Amino acid sequence: MGINIAEALDSGYLNIAHRGARSVAPENTIAAARKALAAGADMWELDVRLNLDGCLVVVHDETLVRTSDVAVRFPGRSPWQVNDFRLDELKSLDFGSWFSSSDPFKQIAGGYLNPSEVEDYRGEPIPTLEEALIFTAEHDWLVNVEIKDLSGLPGDDDVAEKVAGLIGSLGLWERVIISSFNFRYLIIVKKADPRIMTGPLVKSPPTDPVALMSDIGASTYHPATRALRLSHVKRLAESGFPVLTWVVNSPRTARFLLRHGIAGVFTDFPQKLEAAIEADRRQAF
Ligand code: G3P
Ligand code: CA
Repeated sequence: MGINIAEALDSGYLNIAHRGARSVAPENTIAAARKALAAGADMWELDVRLNLDGCLVVVHDETLVRTSDVAVRFPGRSPWQVNDFRLDELKSLDFGSWFSSSDPFKQIAGGYLNPSEVEDYRGEPIPTLEEALIFTAEHDWLVNVEIKDLSGLPGDDDVAEKVAGLIGSLGLWERVIISSFNFRYLIIVKKADPRIMTGPLVKSPPTDPVALMSDIGASTYHPATRALRLSHVKRLAESGFPVLTWVVNSPRTARFLLRHGIAGVFTDFPQKLEAAIEADRRQAF
């Protein structure tokens, strides 16, 4: 077994691929994970929801419209909520063609992808969380699993226990950080399996971030860049809580944050950040 999360945090500034390398592949797919791995990312991040069968599936939005062909394939099933579809239905959808057609980060137009790989994305399936975790382990890699906030949706009561149970049953607690905007989920995860590291997603700075971390038993602090306060970073680091911030696509900003004690960044462009931070990383650690 290779490096685990704790060792990775100790040994360097982390380049974390946000939803995989989503600037050059369809987000939250194994194709995006492969691209991130090839780019040298230390870890990837993915989003988890529950479908109609109660399966944990990797997808960001509450509905399937933006990232699949669901509206064409199932025209009568509006508003196409993830939790209204069985796994066999989800697996029959194409989660790649939207990327090839819309080029959301203009990386195809910019010539950063060759035409054959763009074509290969067509038909890319949705991964289950289990498939994504197995891919991570098979490649001796690390992953941040974000449990989307299912408040008001089916599965809100048991999604956190299910995610913790799956990670435990696969023996992968050392390779995973679970994050969420819903801090209740993080408390449930720690209760279900104290070995799993957790991190709160923070949109606005709390008065006392160290107290927040202690109260919910979390290990890493995950603020949006707009909620990041350098004064907090020092206090958190002194208390043993590394800071991982999102989303940083500018290499210049990534270098600035590295020099100011941030432990890692989530980025849509792991392939660009890797080269940019390499030299500074060697000096800092
Ligand atoms: O991990 C931080 C980030 O992924 C949270 O925002 O909307 O991209 O899932 P979102
Ligand atoms: Ca996310």
